[in-house]
Amino acid sequence: MRKAVCPGSFDPVTLGHLDVFARAAEQFDEVTVGVLINSTKAGLFTIDERIELLRECVAPYKNIKVESFQGLLVDYCKVNGISAIVKGLRAVSDFDYELQMAQMNSQLGVDTLFVATKPEFSFLSSSIIKEIAKYQGDVSALVPTAVNKALKARFKK
Ligand code: PNS
Repeated sequence: MRKAVCPGSFDPVTLGHLDVFARAAEQFDEVTVGVLINSTKAGLFTIDERIELLRECVAPYKNIKVESFQGLLVDYCKVNGISAIVKGLRAVSDFDYELQMAQMNSQLGVDTLFVATKPEFSFLSSSIIKEIAKYQGDVSALVPTAVNKALKARFKK
């Protein structure tokens, strides 16, 4: 069985992330969305909230599951028999950082495959979504419905 992981903070998940998960799920038998537990960085949503939102969003995909992990991503991959990391590449600005991580992870034993983000999602990030939603801007076309609802509740005036 060919298994891949899509790792990230997903605070919160966007339609850009979902597109990458779905495309990874076409290439692999099983895809795990791996939510990083980072005790030094408080997010807008807790890890449990992010996982709940993610699980709701990937429910239609039978071969995508959502888990959290801490420590090194490559260790998580090795323990779980995952042979590839799949990440979305939005623009040249992502490239330096992503290349460095991919090369390091490759050195540590797990290769990374990049999916070119669809142009309609290339400007999207969780941070920019939070910034807009904080001031009641409309992000409904950019995030799953459940996330839009959760953002509205979090930033309710
Ligand atoms: O959504 P993010 O915050 O950009 O995702 C970053 C993530 C989770 C992919 C990266 O920080 C990660 O893999 N962290 C786990 C720790 C690790 O393995 N670090 C070494 C990377 S070379």
